[in-house]
Amino acid sequence: MRYDQPDEGRFGDFGGAFAPETLMPALGELEDAFLEAWQDPAFHAELNHLLRTFVGRPTPTYRAARLSEKLGMDLWFKREDLAHTGAHKINNTVAQGLLTKRMGKQRVIAETGAGQHGVATATACSLLGLDCVVFMGEKDIERQALNVYRMRLLGAEVVSVTDGAGTLKDAVSAALRDWVATVGTTHYIIGSVVGPHPFPWMVREFQKVIGEELAADLDGSDGHPKPEVIVAPVGGGSNAMGVFYPFAGDGDVDLVGVEAAGLGISSGKHGASLGHGSPGVLHGSMTYMLQDGAGQVLEAHSISAGLDYPGVGPEHAHFKDSGLVRYESVSDDEAVEAFHLMCRTEGIIPALESSHALAWIVREQASLAGKTVVLNLSGRGDKDVQQIAALYD
Ligand SMILES: Cc1ncc(COP(=O)(O)O)c(C=O)c1O
Repeated sequence: MRYDQPDEGRFGDFGGAFAPETLMPALGELEDAFLEAWQDPAFHAELNHLLRTFVGRPTPTYRAARLSEKLGMDLWFKREDLAHTGAHKINNTVAQGLLTKRMGKQRVIAETGAGQHGVATATACSLLGLDCVVFMGEKDIERQALNVYRMRLLGAEVVSVTDGAGTLKDAVSAALRDWVATVGTTHYIIGSVVGPHPFPWMVREFQKVIGEELAADLDGSDGHPKPEVIVAPVGGGSNAMGVFYPFAGDGDVDLVGVEAAGLGISSGKHGASLGHGSPGVLHGSMTYMLQDGAGQVLEAHSISAGLDYPGVGPEHAHFKDSGLVRYESVSDDEAVEAFHLMCRTEGIIPALESSHALAWIVREQASLAGKTVVLNLSGRGDKDVQQIAALYD
């Protein structure tokens, strides 16, 4: 089995475990537990059973016929919006939930931005009988009210984080602070390929099922094309890493990650850490991040709560520097336009995060003409409908 364990948690110049001394034993314990589980056929059997019967995997690879015609390309969607709870986040939370039980811990904490990871964590905890506390910035609580209510219905406690900008970065910091104090009894289910080692590696392993299923569906046989371009939105980077990883280094496929340009790069109000940030340490790993000259973290901005993060997973930083993946960005306005386009043309209300990837495809339609393009449709947009209605209608 291929699981490419990074040496010392490093991806080239990035990654590592820049964590408080008190967390190091828990990170070591987690690495050991993950390695042991990932080599245990019984763990895979239990996880695969839940992925199939509870999450609804494999998710379909769907040909978007009307948009293909409109845009002049062969456009496919990997339908993570059809996974239980409406986004890819559940792949990771069910797996980390099983690991929590294996480590003999009863309490789970998590951070959330768009609320999708919070809902997915609350869901896994309800399924597996674990106690769940979710940290969420107060601004995100406001714009993702539906998901807050879903988490509470699922039995989770939602803690409002009022520090900083009241968004995802502040929620991660609050969760890390809680973890330092409770590490003996608590597991922190990080929601993306971010944080100190072993999280970026482990979450990638739990999400790469997306790309593996895609490779099996579009394998060039039986009239099925092979992907030429794969496009995914990048917040912390977990859906993108999940779909890219099995194809990375395969020279035949262009991999494109799309970050949030927010109100425009020149406005300074954006979330494009890879495209317009610089290397630094954020939430326990060396990566690209938005920072000022003194190394203070800058606030990110995106209309989409899931992309509103001033950092990115360290393996993406490595992919950027080694040229394996190209990272682009699109603005709030472009994303909203693409959101409406998908609603009206394909009968799918996409997440605002996923709409960023479609917006890039629309912008690049001339250069993509005639190609087989796959959009990783990371989630459904029910959570965003109220926000869109308030802003634009
Ligand atoms: C639907 C959806 N897509 C994408 C993201 C961004 O996260 P990541 O980059 O880790 O996939 C989120 C985050 O909440 C999300 O809910």
